[in-house]
Amino acid sequence: MAAKPTVLIVGATGMMGSKIASAILNKGAMNVKALVRSDSPSKALEPLTEKGVTLVEGDLFDTSSLFKALEGVDIVVTSVRGGRTETDEKEIVLTGQLNLIEAAKATGLQRFIPSDFAIDYFKLDLGDNYNLDFRKQIADALIASGIPHTFVLIGAFTEVVFSPFLKIFDFQAETFSYWGDGETLFDATTTDDTAKYLAEALADPKMVNRPLKIAGDTLSMNQLYATYEVVTGKTLKKQNLGSVEDLKTWIDTTKQKATSHYEYLSEQYIYAMVSGKGKLDSLDNDRYPHIQPTRIKQFLQQM
Ligand SMILES: NC(=O)c1ccc[n+]([C@@H]2O[C@H](COP(=O)([O-])OP(=O)(O)OC[C@H]3O[C@@H](n4cnc5c(N)ncnc54)[C@H](OP(=O)(O)O)[C@@H]3O)[C@@H](O)[C@H]2O)c1
Repeated sequence: MAAKPTVLIVGATGMMGSKIASAILNKGAMNVKALVRSDSPSKALEPLTEKGVTLVEGDLFDTSSLFKALEGVDIVVTSVRGGRTETDEKEIVLTGQLNLIEAAKATGLQRFIPSDFAIDYFKLDLGDNYNLDFRKQIADALIASGIPHTFVLIGAFTEVVFSPFLKIFDFQAETFSYWGDGETLFDATTTDDTAKYLAEALADPKMVNRPLKIAGDTLSMNQLYATYEVVTGKTLKKQNLGSVEDLKTWIDTTKQKATSHYEYLSEQYIYAMVSGKGKLDSLDNDRYPHIQPTRIKQFLQQM
């Protein structure tokens, strides 16, 4: 019997990485290793070892640790993100992942899944989204490297749609705010469903060198608000902030005087959603019919 393939997760102590580790191990067909930093707190590591993840100490900025971690590895999944400081996103997601791609080039890796979990950034232009510019550059580097890869595109995380980051729902102020005409469709997938689909795609040879496009739900801002009202029985003040063109102007103006990309980053994600520019098409949900993703209605019922 052939040995189980080994997956190395970089970012396993993080929110998505830990879910990805669980989803892969739940399928039982692959071993999981995690690259963890030497200063990772034991409370982040214990849940991983309890699941059966083998820990390897290393860092994206320590090349020799990457070579060591890649020994015996068939598949790399990264779920890194800037986190500890404001400049980390570019450093970690771009430079860090480039280091990993470089180290992986000589290893005969079967698959590399970069840290995407995003809207369809291939349809965006450079400059449309500060964070996704780095994903576009990583995608280019990965394609150029010749390493077999899969890009995981899922729209917005459903959890994030209801979080303060996107500024759609403000439960304290009791407002629902949206740009555009409210009719353009966008995609949302829960973090758990994203991990489950990713685990399927790792074992699916048809997913090599292409994006995996999944939507747990696809709906408009008007449908999102209506679903919220129906499920919760609550009413929020629904306020239109302007047209898609107004939003673009707001972003361009804010960018010129901003001291940090955080001043316009949420709006850049909203722009891709309400303009339809980041919309996923030709979904792959049907490839894995045993996964029934959580729709927004169900998510709200469980909230
Ligand atoms: N579509 C959406 O709505 C949406 C929303 C949120 C996130 N995302 C995406 O999902 C992905 C994962 O995000 P997340 O929230 O799960 O991230 P997270 O919780 O912040 O985790 C980031 C991970 O990266 C690790 N890491 C950072 N620097 C590293 C380095 N130099 N070497 C090795 N590991 C390093 C961290 O390790 P330590 O524990 O050592 O810090 C941590 O495990 C990102 O691409 C993010 O943009 C998408």
